[in-house]
Amino acid sequence: MKTYAEYLRMVEEALAPSLCGLGEIPERLRQAMLYSLEAGGKRLRPVLLLAACDFFGGDIREALPFACGLEMIHTYSLIHDDLPAMDDDDLRRGRPSSHKAFGEATAILAGDGLLSAAFELMLNAACRMDSLRGAKAARAIAGRCGVTGMVAGQTVDVTEEGTEPTAEKVRYIHLHKTADLLCAPMEAGALLACARPADMEAAVTYGLELGLAFQMTDDLLDVEGSEASLGKRTGQDAAAGKLTWVSVRGVEGTRADAAESLRRAKTAITGTGRDASFFTELADTLLERKN
Ligand code: IPE
Ligand code: IPE
Ligand code: MG
Ligand code: MG
Ligand code: MG
Repeated sequence: MKTYAEYLRMVEEALAPSLCGLGEIPERLRQAMLYSLEAGGKRLRPVLLLAACDFFGGDIREALPFACGLEMIHTYSLIHDDLPAMDDDDLRRGRPSSHKAFGEATAILAGDGLLSAAFELMLNAACRMDSLRGAKAARAIAGRCGVTGMVAGQTVDVTEEGTEPTAEKVRYIHLHKTADLLCAPMEAGALLACARPADMEAAVTYGLELGLAFQMTDDLLDVEGSEASLGKRTGQDAAAGKLTWVSVRGVEGTRADAAESLRRAKTAITGTGRDASFFTELADTLLERKN
């Protein structure tokens, strides 16, 4: 296994070239996609995909287009999440949001472009493989980011704004808008490595529990974080009447529930019997994250 920084470097080096390598893209669209893609970000999802593939004995070079594709999908979700019709946020990854920099039409199209480019990239890679593992990984990512996954969660997030928060509603929103996109790399990485069913299950549980804790800490950071380190506005959730874990369980309850999810995540991944220190250490850093 490599370190987070080593997987990160692989992603950073491959991300822009893999998008631009698809062919001729209208200049303004290319600029807008790269503006959001190259603004930084933790790259947690692509790093997890490479790490999961490595962990289960797969080839991480082969997994790289899937890692880049997933980061493109995540970046599209952020561009659309910030649109005036959704969360109406003017700051993202420390820069003006896409629609502030390029206008709404280009921001919408940059999101559309990143989503379809991601699948073009992943399916190009899948077509070069000698088994269905790449197709299965792309299918898993499609499910996790689509109408029963992230898009489902985002739909309920915006349609339930201002309604009475309940644990059941917030859990549904978190599970889909966020945990599905953190489960996707674990699932796809394991599929690319042709992991056994019991290992697949451990990977999925780790991803979902990590994802739930990740969104709980995102809700906490909106209350107590700093705009400078987050690179996005704080105090937005309460102002918009968002259904957050903090609105149901309070700050201390949210912290406790995140710790419990992380405990479940670690139990699942150590249950594979492999050296899971990469994943347990990552989980341990999550509660204290500042960005
Ligand atoms: C932000 O995701 C959206 C949520 C699901 C909370 P990240 O916190 O991973 O954002 P970047 O990629 O580091 O900018
Ligand atoms: C966003 O949740 C989840 C997705 C973009 C899919 P939030 O709306 O809480 O994310 P931030 O806080 O704007 O990054
Ligand atoms: Mg949102
Ligand atoms: Mg938002
Ligand atoms: Mg948030």
